[in-house]
Amino acid sequence: MPKSNVSASVIRRLPRYYRFLRELADAGVERISSGDLARRMGLTASQIRQDLNCFGGFGQQGYGYNVRSLHEEVGHILGLGKHRKAILIGAGNLGRAIAQHMDFTSRGFELVGIFDANPELIGREIAGVPVQNIQALYDFCSRKVPTVAILCIPKEAAMKLARELVGMGIKGFWNFSHYDLALDFKGIVVENVHLGDSLSILCYHLGEMERNQP
Ligand code: NAI
Repeated sequence: MPKSNVSASVIRRLPRYYRFLRELADAGVERISSGDLARRMGLTASQIRQDLNCFGGFGQQGYGYNVRSLHEEVGHILGLGKHRKAILIGAGNLGRAIAQHMDFTSRGFELVGIFDANPELIGREIAGVPVQNIQALYDFCSRKVPTVAILCIPKEAAMKLARELVGMGIKGFWNFSHYDLALDFKGIVVENVHLGDSLSILCYHLGEMERNQP
């Protein structure tokens, strides 16, 4: 059982553990020490032990970690086996790229519907899922009961739609719009993704490196 107060930074590292362990398992590695895993991941051995101790440990003194079972455990902690139903709103450039390139199934989700307000897009298929008119959203949610919405629409549209989506039973948002949902909705899980923020952080680190160069 995970401790109830696992920090956000530990949770943020879990998908990386999952990915590295998958690669190790695929390469035929059966067991690995925390030191070796740390070197490969650019972490410290004690950080890895501390992170995994939040969920019960999993390693054995003198043996290290069994790669396959740790991979399974991390997947289990992340809840990847669940297949939660997700809908994507906004079938523009970003929405299309996400629908086409994201492997939802391996991450615990099933993309069951795509919606847009542009009549020209209605009826087109993206990744085998037809784009439906946003006006069909209520009826669709009543029948299919999705619990996750992926927002790839402009800020103003997201501000209007988010409350309706919560009313339709959406419990979690993967939010690419530039509207900070988490501030307005309590009891709803929000994962905001801002590629621009990530680029700004790169900019900061480049500046820092330049300042520190002799
Ligand atoms: P886009 O203009 O290609 O697509 C937006 C789509 O949303 C259009 O198909 C439009 O018809 C649809 N739409 C607008 N209002 C709607 C509504 N009420 N209901 C249903 N569909 C609606 O734009 P793009 O490039 O796909 O970007 C989408 C949004 O994501 C933009 O607001 C942009 O600022 C944001 N964005 C965020 C990024 C991030 O890192 N978080 C990166 C890139 C874009």
